[in-house]
Amino acid sequence: MKEKIVYTNEVGATIDRLVEESGAKSVFTIVDVNTAAFCLPLLRETSKAVAASTVLTVKAGDAEKSLEAAAALWKSLSNGGATRSSMIVNVGGGVVTDLGGFVAATFKRGVPYINVPTTLLGAVDAATGGKTGINFNGLKNEVGAFALPAATVVSTVFFKTLPKHEMLSGYAEMLKHALLSGNEALARALSHDAADTDGLLALLRENIKVKTEIVASDPKEAGPRKALNLGHTAGHAFEALAMERRQPIPHGYAVAWGLIVELVLSHLALGYPTTHLYPVVQFVKAHYGSHPIVCDDYPRLLALMAHDKKNASPEEINFTLLHAPGEAEVNRTATAKDIETALDIYRDLTA
Ligand SMILES: NC(=O)c1ccc[n+]([C@@H]2O[C@H](COP(=O)([O-])OP(=O)(O)OC[C@H]3O[C@@H](n4cnc5c(N)ncnc54)[C@H](O)[C@@H]3O)[C@@H](O)[C@H]2O)c1
Ligand SMILES: [Zn+2]
Repeated sequence: MKEKIVYTNEVGATIDRLVEESGAKSVFTIVDVNTAAFCLPLLRETSKAVAASTVLTVKAGDAEKSLEAAAALWKSLSNGGATRSSMIVNVGGGVVTDLGGFVAATFKRGVPYINVPTTLLGAVDAATGGKTGINFNGLKNEVGAFALPAATVVSTVFFKTLPKHEMLSGYAEMLKHALLSGNEALARALSHDAADTDGLLALLRENIKVKTEIVASDPKEAGPRKALNLGHTAGHAFEALAMERRQPIPHGYAVAWGLIVELVLSHLALGYPTTHLYPVVQFVKAHYGSHPIVCDDYPRLLALMAHDKKNASPEEINFTLLHAPGEAEVNRTATAKDIETALDIYRDLTA
């Protein structure tokens, strides 16, 4: 099924049109404390539906993707008389769209919802694709549901108040999509100033399409959707190791560095051309700096990669690798030795 995404900076009017078209009888807007302060005022001014809606506010941060927060929202919806003829409008980053989407997917077996991503990561990744969920039992996204939003409204109007590291974090996912798309998209992504929001809406339109086309071909991640894991096997290991050392790094930064490791692996295993490797390395170094690792980190990094749920056996770690920009191969296994070599080269390239 083709996902509905509207690209516009006329967010309020667009929400009103979508709500009207849906025939929804009542509207519930979910925000976190930051989007309540930074994004809701504009929507209240420009959208009749939001102004008239019941606003439900959650805390900010990933810890809020919890059963307790979901239960509190279910309770508010129940007490507020929400029905399957209501519309839920999620206004926020990935936390609000994951949590609000999950609550919408489960309340009364499914209430339609609109996502209004307010972070770049939300726009480019979390708000589309229909993966909703909460963290549970100490595990990320352990409980959830596939449930596509009725629509997603992508705009750049909310990014002005977003800290620079949040913009860069989202941009790494854009770089990933560009690598999955091809040479031209990659060149455009590399020549766009990552911190510049002007012109970003047009870039988002072509970039998000890369994800939604892959998702449409494989909504429940049986195979091709795994291409979207590019950069994430190494990236998650960097992220988890940094977390263990109590020096957390933003997800997108970990992905940016992970992309370098996996492009090096792609070069070694599939002949990914160095002409498309070095510009990515330059871009990542210029915008994200480098993430220093030492040989002593390798065993833990490898163990973290092996623990990744995508792997059948710890001896063979699964990656999505590229033959070239736009030519992904999922389920490529690499041995510990291959990965150590790639980490050595990553260190040389980013030194
Ligand atoms: N469902 C998916 O397919 C998918 C994909 C990628 C990530 N995710 C999930 O997304 C979450 C991360 O998303 P995120 O990076 O957007 O985090 P987030 O929602 O926590 O937002 C980051 C911070 O920015 C604040 N914020 C949001 N919009 C703002 C604005 N316009 N101005 C100022 N501050 C603003 C938030 O309150 C928060 O403090 C994770 O939980 C991750 O698991 C889901
Ligand atoms: Zn990611």
